[in-house]
Amino acid sequence: MSEDVVTYTIENHIAWVKYNRPEKRNCMSPTVNRRMMEVLDELEYRDDVGVFVLTGEGTSWSAGMDLKEYFRENEEKGLWATRKAQREAYGWWRRLRWYHKPTIAMINGWCFGGAYGPLFACDLAFAAEEATFGLSEINWGILPGGGATKVAVELVNFRNAMYHALMGENIDGQKAAEWGLVNEAVPLVKLKERVTEVANVLLTKNPVALKATKDAIRRVSEMTYDNAEDYLIRAQEAANSHDNNGRKEGIKQFIDDKTYKPGLGAYKLKD
Ligand code: COA
Repeated sequence: MSEDVVTYTIENHIAWVKYNRPEKRNCMSPTVNRRMMEVLDELEYRDDVGVFVLTGEGTSWSAGMDLKEYFRENEEKGLWATRKAQREAYGWWRRLRWYHKPTIAMINGWCFGGAYGPLFACDLAFAAEEATFGLSEINWGILPGGGATKVAVELVNFRNAMYHALMGENIDGQKAAEWGLVNEAVPLVKLKERVTEVANVLLTKNPVALKATKDAIRRVSEMTYDNAEDYLIRAQEAANSHDNNGRKEGIKQFIDDKTYKPGLGAYKLKD
């Protein structure tokens, strides 16, 4: 049974991973968090997975942490249980932030509080216009913990982050896109189609370059310009040594074969 709280299918190199507790609005219990870590393990290095998409079954993406099973029941057991539950939740979000494959959050409905952790952990995010986002913590008497405050400050400007966290008012997908919580919002009926389109573009890119790039975007945000310049040299040189000549092939197809222009698209990956 516990395995059912997260499901996945793999179609054309896209892993569609779903929170699957629709009757509990996909809130994150310790069981969900443990299973999600296993799923990350199962999918990360599979050759038939090029892009990882995280979405939710039913009307919710995720209603945040499970107030009963994550908070109340662990608090009753003692600090050790709370800390263990935090490690499990934060553990898979951290793992997702540095995942080997590009990741996309597909926000189909409710997205509250703790769900901002995995939202930020995904490299890209696309929401239904009808989706609802909220830092609801203030409404039940806590601060937005578990990284949610950090996510708001990373993605949203100061005034909006402060308003969002203090007021406990929800915003829809369009406002979330305007604020930068997600890349784009589209009508729910078009959401999977748009995410598939984006995933298919990612699948045409050099996978080593994708991993190096996604890590670089996250890492350099905390660096001085000089440190970033140096990091990027090292990161590119490390990527070259893993890349099976993809970069040379890219140069060849542009300079010698003249079959594409890097400014207008990607070189053709070898089959
Ligand atoms: N923790 C625990 N249980 C939750 C939950 C959460 N975060 N979110 C939803 N549930 C449970 C409800 O208790 C209810 O359980 P029940 O059927 O056993 O009574 C079930 O999921 C369905 O929720 P319900 O509130 O009836 O659904 P809704 O569609 O009317 O409303 C929400 C959806 C998301 C608006 C509402 O459930 C909600 O406010 N959830 C809490 C969101 C939140 O503050 N999360 C932040 C946590 S950090």
